[in-house]
Amino acid sequence: MQHVGQRVRLGGWVHRRRDLGGIVFVDLRDRAGIVQVAVGPAAPEDVRRTAGGLTGETVVEVEGEVVARPGNMKNPELATGDVEVHPSKLTVVGLAVTPAIPVARAKGEELPSEELRLKHRHLDLRRPEMQANLVLRHRLLQRARRTLTELEFLEIETPILTKPTPEGARDYLVPSRVHPGEFYALPQSPQIYKQLLMVAGLDRYFQIARCFRDEDLRNDRQPEFTQIDLEASFVGPEDVLGFVEAVLVALWDEAGQQVAGPFPRITWREAMERYGTDKPDLRYELAITDWTTQVGPLGVPFFDAALKNGARVRGLAVKGGGGTLSRKDVDQLAETAKQLGGSGLAWVKRQGEQISGSVGKYFTADTLGALGIGDGDAALIAAGPDRVTSPVLDRVRQEVIRRLGAQPTATHAFAWVVDFPLFEPDPETGKPVFAHHPFTAPHPDDLPLGRKSPFEMRALHYDVVYNGNELGSGSIRITDRQVQYWVFHQLGLSDDEIAKRFGFLIDGLNSGAPPHGGFAIGFDRVVMLLAGAASLRDVIAFPKTTAARALFEGAPAPAHPADLRALHIKVEP
Ligand code: AMO
Repeated sequence: MQHVGQRVRLGGWVHRRRDLGGIVFVDLRDRAGIVQVAVGPAAPEDVRRTAGGLTGETVVEVEGEVVARPGNMKNPELATGDVEVHPSKLTVVGLAVTPAIPVARAKGEELPSEELRLKHRHLDLRRPEMQANLVLRHRLLQRARRTLTELEFLEIETPILTKPTPEGARDYLVPSRVHPGEFYALPQSPQIYKQLLMVAGLDRYFQIARCFRDEDLRNDRQPEFTQIDLEASFVGPEDVLGFVEAVLVALWDEAGQQVAGPFPRITWREAMERYGTDKPDLRYELAITDWTTQVGPLGVPFFDAALKNGARVRGLAVKGGGGTLSRKDVDQLAETAKQLGGSGLAWVKRQGEQISGSVGKYFTADTLGALGIGDGDAALIAAGPDRVTSPVLDRVRQEVIRRLGAQPTATHAFAWVVDFPLFEPDPETGKPVFAHHPFTAPHPDDLPLGRKSPFEMRALHYDVVYNGNELGSGSIRITDRQVQYWVFHQLGLSDDEIAKRFGFLIDGLNSGAPPHGGFAIGFDRVVMLLAGAASLRDVIAFPKTTAARALFEGAPAPAHPADLRALHIKVEP
């Protein structure tokens, strides 16, 4: 209202046009929102003519006066709903053909398919929701920069044409024209560079880093994505966790959400035991229990088969599940368990005197009571090795929470997952592979385990999780060259391969390396969660599909034969 009486010059897109005979209303839209332009009988003739022919999404420039709307014409749903502009000049500056997908939608009207929206991205990005997401993304980026700068971190850029960085995914390779048969790799992360910056004495580094990984994509994974990447020297785990908490608290604050550190901590072992995953959603109390001792003697064939092989029986005691989980629910949960490679899911329900379920006949009220299953409750049970039952029970837990509409005990459940294993067994060969990347320092207390049982060694590695999402991870790095060699050897690398692939890092460790550690926050995931978006694609201006295609530009695409020749590349059909 403070603009009433002012003359203004506006530029924007025709969001909607309503022609009421004597008067034409044009909703003019730009990044800041929508304002109504009213072209009445008093408007100049040429303005009325132009307004009468305007098509949706055309760009116009308007000059006119801001006027208060009469009381009954106010629109409380619009920030500018108390005023309108009466134009003295109206010029079409960018004519639009009928848009391939609508930008203005009626209330409740569904969005066009995502494929269409990704194809016509410039139109989809005009939607106010998408603009709000990108505005939020910008603000969060600036806040991250400010927070880290205040903590005396330096923003330093590292190369995009690099050597392979081992982060567990495939590399995107870029052929070199001037060196036939040689390739750059796009960085999976700036990991090695940030360590070399520490060796170089730049003691606190950060970067809003673009990373590239050729891996299976999901809603929370893109082939190119952005990390808030940091590294610091002369620090231990407490310092790094403190830096990351400061950044996350600031980002949540920027989005209007008050959270505070320190975040609770849970060991990796406990997370896997209680929740079956290393990124548990701690807003809900439901947790997995080991029932091996209690159910072992009951003679249930489904359990006996697993127990014979030394596996365990674990399950979820679902309070109230006796009444609320339908037969269809449990059948679907059992099907999910099978699809995840488990042998299925057993279940028991207790309602008054009645005990039912796939293994109900083996249980009495007393045996159920010992498992914490009271009247009206249900037990969902998986039997087998942990590597099979953990993912099953994790998934079943999430489904149960969703189906029962469970009440969360918190809105924001941040947690640190600590004491990760240093190595994991390769599922095919059983040989050690690195759990995160090969520069992670072993837990000093576990060094003596190295020779006998490397799989039991813990790493000085930490992940931060939020409401069931992995937001980021980091570690204290190996700075002892002997230990670095030992880890590479465990991973099966020869001295020759180490020199070829990581020679420049080893040189760094040989030339006075300070103790250092760092972290990377998955920035797109943070924006997605704070924007309340369902997919990373809604918070990245030009994302790829889950098939790694950029639909708006049609990438990837075949290269011109002459370009391939120049790059010394022959494509095998
Ligand atoms: P990590 O590989 O765990 O660690 O990556 C850190 C965080 O980046 C995000 N992230 C992704 N986001 C979108 N799409 C992807 N494909 C994708 N992959 C990972 C996640 C993840 O937690 N160099 C180490 C960090 C360090 O040790 O300092 C690293 O990159 O949120």
